[in-house]
Amino acid sequence: MSTRPLLTLIAAVSADGFISTGKGVPWDLPRDKEHFRGTTRGQWLLLGRRTYEEMIGWFEDRHPLVLTRNPSFMPQVGERVASVDEALNLAAAHGVKELFDCGGGGAYAAAMPCADRLILTHVDSKLGGGVPFPTVNSGEWRQTSRQHFPADSTHAQALDFATYERFKASTEPSRAAL
Ligand SMILES: NC(=O)c1ccc[n+]([C@@H]2O[C@H](COP(=O)([O-])OP(=O)(O)OC[C@H]3O[C@@H](n4cnc5c(N)ncnc54)[C@H](OP(=O)(O)O)[C@@H]3O)[C@@H](O)[C@H]2O)c1
Repeated sequence: MSTRPLLTLIAAVSADGFISTGKGVPWDLPRDKEHFRGTTRGQWLLLGRRTYEEMIGWFEDRHPLVLTRNPSFMPQVGERVASVDEALNLAAAHGVKELFDCGGGGAYAAAMPCADRLILTHVDSKLGGGVPFPTVNSGEWRQTSRQHFPADSTHAQALDFATYERFKASTEPSRAAL
């Protein structure tokens, strides 16, 4: 029997809890791009269909699974999945140890109830609205690392790289199962 992979959400989140204004990622942070590229290189990824379409051309050396409700959607790269459970089962069948959910808001919300780990870049900027990152319930998650980088000549915003591990099962129903 294949083992379920770890499910990790990786995201850059504003100080008021948004991942995007709704028109793409609103900051340009080379250190975060390198962190994202390095963490996901060679890995299996789960992406909402909209984020997948934004990132087309970028998946060299990565295996994207595209979350969509459209049964006729045919990704140019990777495979279509209809649920987070299907993505986890497919990854498990290929011996994948960790699946990285790269967003956006819909894909994070679908996966949050069954996520094991969060790799968050906290960006010191407020967006005031847009696409939200799901609530991180402090009764379920423990921060295990945090590294701060101040703003500098190539980073308009300060940022923190933080990792959280789940220590308590979610009380939310898994949207993936709906
Ligand atoms: N800051 C960050 O780290 C970060 C990371 C990634 C993306 N983003 C931003 O996030 C924004 C996109 O987020 P979004 O929420 O609009 O779109 P999204 O999550 O990328 O994609 C949404 C689509 O995924 C599919 N989907 C979502 N939940 C599903 C479920 N439970 N079951 C089956 N299919 C499901 C649907 O596709 P169908 O319509 O095909 O059915 C839905 O329309 C963009 O602006 C992007 O730049 C930011």
